[in-house]
Amino acid sequence: MKFKTIDWKGDRVRILDQRRLPQEVRYLDCRSASSVAQAIRTMAIRGAPAIGVAAAMGIALGAKKNRSDNPRVFAKAVEKVCREMRETRPTAVNLFWAVDRMEKILERVENDGVDETKKRLMREALQILKTDIEVNRKIGKYGKKLIKAGDGVLTHCNAGALATGGFGTALGVIYAARDEGKQFQVFVDETRPMLQGCRLTAWELVQEKIPATLITDNMAGVLMRKGLVDLVVVGADRIAGNGDTANKIGTYGLAVLSKSHGIPFYVAAPTSTLDLSLVSGEEIPIEERNIAEVTHFRGYPIAPKGVKAFNPAFDVTPHSLIHGIITEKGIIRKPFHKNLRKVFSTLNSRTERFQTVSYRTRNSKEG
Ligand code: MRU
Repeated sequence: MKFKTIDWKGDRVRILDQRRLPQEVRYLDCRSASSVAQAIRTMAIRGAPAIGVAAAMGIALGAKKNRSDNPRVFAKAVEKVCREMRETRPTAVNLFWAVDRMEKILERVENDGVDETKKRLMREALQILKTDIEVNRKIGKYGKKLIKAGDGVLTHCNAGALATGGFGTALGVIYAARDEGKQFQVFVDETRPMLQGCRLTAWELVQEKIPATLITDNMAGVLMRKGLVDLVVVGADRIAGNGDTANKIGTYGLAVLSKSHGIPFYVAAPTSTLDLSLVSGEEIPIEERNIAEVTHFRGYPIAPKGVKAFNPAFDVTPHSLIHGIITEKGIIRKPFHKNLRKVFSTLNSRTERFQTVSYRTRNSKEG
C-alpha cells in the first residue's frame, strides 16, 4: 500500500484523515487520547479493525502522557481513557476487543509498575496493528480462490487498507487475487449516506490500478440481472454466534439481491470481529447517526427543512444469506453456530488471548 491508515509516532498517533479523501491526502496528528477518540467518533478513521487499532493506540498514548508514578492513580486515569474509547462507536466489536486487550495489561500495573505498564501498553497497541495486517493477508490468501479470471466482483462500503491496519479484508481478497495475476472487474457501491465506497474504496482501487466501476447503491440489481456480478464480498463490523453479520447499511439489501440472482455472497472478516457472546444478530447494537448525514450532502441541504429522516449506520444480514465467512483461519461455512465455535476454541487453546467477554453488556446503555 502506498499509504498508512494509522501510525504510532512516539508522542502522537498519526491518522490518515478519511473525511478529506479523495480530494486530499492529509494526516491528522493526535497528541492526546481524547483527540484519538474524537477522530474515531467523527470518522476521520473508520472501519472495524482500524478503529480497534486506533482505540488501542489512543490508550497507549493516554498512558504515556500520564505523569503519575502511583500505580492506582495511573490505573484510574487510564481506565477513564478506556471508557472514553468504548463510548466512541457502538457496533464494531473490534474496538471493544482491542480495549479489552489493553485493560488486561493495565490490570497488572501494581505488579509491573507504571513505567513497565506504559511500555507494555505501547507494545500491545503495535502488536494489534501488526497482527491485523498479517491477518488480512491470510484472509486474502483464503479468499482469492473465490475469484476466477474474468469475474465481476461487487463490494460495499470500504473494507480495504483504510478500514484496517493495512491491506484490508474484502479488498484484501481482491488485492490477493490481483497479486496472483488474475484479471477481473470490481464494482463498487457508492454507499450512501457517507459514501465510503465512492470516496474510499474507489480511491484505494485507483491507487492500486485495479479496474473498478463505481455504481450508486440502487444499481446493483440491474448489474446482477445483466449477469455482470459473479461474487459479492463485503466486510463486517460484528458477527454473532449464528453467523448473522452487522455491516454497513445496505449490505442486507445486497445479500437479498444476491440470493435472488443466485450469486454467492461472502463476508470477509478477522476473528476479532466475532462476538460469540451474542446468540444472533438481533442483539447487535446498531449505531444511529445524525440525520444531517441523510438530509445534507457535505453540509449542503438536499432535503426540505423539517422532513424526518432515518440514519442507521449498519444493518444485519441473516446468516441464511451468507455463503461463507472468510477469516484468517480459513473460510467458515454453515452451520455457522457450530463452525464459528470450533474456530473460537482453537483460538482459545492457542492462547491467542481472544476474550469471551460480554461486549453486549459492556456496550449497552444500561450496562
Ligand atoms: O461506518 P464505518 O465506515 O466505520 O463502517 C465500516 C464498515 O461497515 C466496513 O464494511 C466494516 O467495518 C468492515 S472494515 C474491514
